[in-house]
Amino acid sequence: MDAKVSKKNLNWAELGFQYHKTDYRFSAVHRDGQWSEGALVSDEMISVHEGAPTLHYAQQCFEGMKAQTAEDGRVLLFRPELNSQRMNDAAGRLLMPEVPQDLFLRGVEEAVRANYAWIPPYGSGASLYVRPMLIGVGENLGLKPAREFEFRVFVSPVGPYYQQQGLALISLAVSEMDRAAPRGTGSYKVGANYAGGLMATRKAQELGANEALYLDAAQGRYIDEAGSANIIIAMDNNTLVTPDSRAILPSITRRSLMDIAARQMQMKTEQRPVDLRGEFAEFREMAACGTAAVLSPVGRIWFDNDWHVVNGDGQSVGPVMQELYDRLTGIQNGERADEFGWLHEVEL
Ligand SMILES: Cc1ncc(COP(=O)(O)O)c(C=O)c1O
Repeated sequence: MDAKVSKKNLNWAELGFQYHKTDYRFSAVHRDGQWSEGALVSDEMISVHEGAPTLHYAQQCFEGMKAQTAEDGRVLLFRPELNSQRMNDAAGRLLMPEVPQDLFLRGVEEAVRANYAWIPPYGSGASLYVRPMLIGVGENLGLKPAREFEFRVFVSPVGPYYQQQGLALISLAVSEMDRAAPRGTGSYKVGANYAGGLMATRKAQELGANEALYLDAAQGRYIDEAGSANIIIAMDNNTLVTPDSRAILPSITRRSLMDIAARQMQMKTEQRPVDLRGEFAEFREMAACGTAAVLSPVGRIWFDNDWHVVNGDGQSVGPVMQELYDRLTGIQNGERADEFGWLHEVEL
């Protein structure tokens, strides 16, 4: 690492979840069946043809991950191979070329390393959000796959997603709009799933909630997920439950929390359909989880024209979610032993 590179003079603790222009981004192009080598560029603007399929038919997918500074100065990514896998699953579904894992990881690492000055310091409560994306570019007016693609990775220092530092309760409002059909694209991280959710989030916020909660589109009965996070629920009998649905994004954070619960906290874990109205009375603790949301305990939910408080006063964080949060964030920032082998250090 070049010790002369000092950190930017940002008020790290005050950062929200917003775009901050950093110095470099990584870009590679797929043309004539081949990926270019890829390189860092400084221009944050992308120039695409007005007929590009990414603009008209949402032929694009993206990922979200975070780089954190450990106490000893190491820069840590969390399970980036799973982001690579998930991007390639989406690419296959949308008839886009896969981004080879070595290109994906090199793009992420180069973008993080080149923006070292923007990586929030250890203990600041902020982290460097990493946004890989794959878009169909080039002229292609008819409804058919693009012939050229760009893989780009940009980064931005961010603070908490729900405008609250540390572990604070959020509220959710069940959406009257569906997010994804059972056999649609809900399990892929594709932009097409999110445009329709903007209004659901707006309506949830108008009700005073932080975020929309979606039920399954077929019956409006089982919990799917929140607008940008999966759901976990602690039940009696030391059990952690997460909804089983083919319409939700397979959250890397959720998969990690379920493993922590099973292997470090000796909890029973279940992935199964969760009937919101039928089972709500048994919810002991509930949380939304994801890269941006980390683990955000849910205090109350709006459904059937009323607020429903999750077990108790809806104001305090329960012991299960507190422990899951401490264990997850402890691994992610290098404070706890990485016994699962989840960390990926970026060589500086
Ligand atoms: C719809 C949706 N669900 C869940 C998640 C959480 O996934 P992950 O834990 O992999 O970030 C995200 C993204 O963060 C998301 O956009």
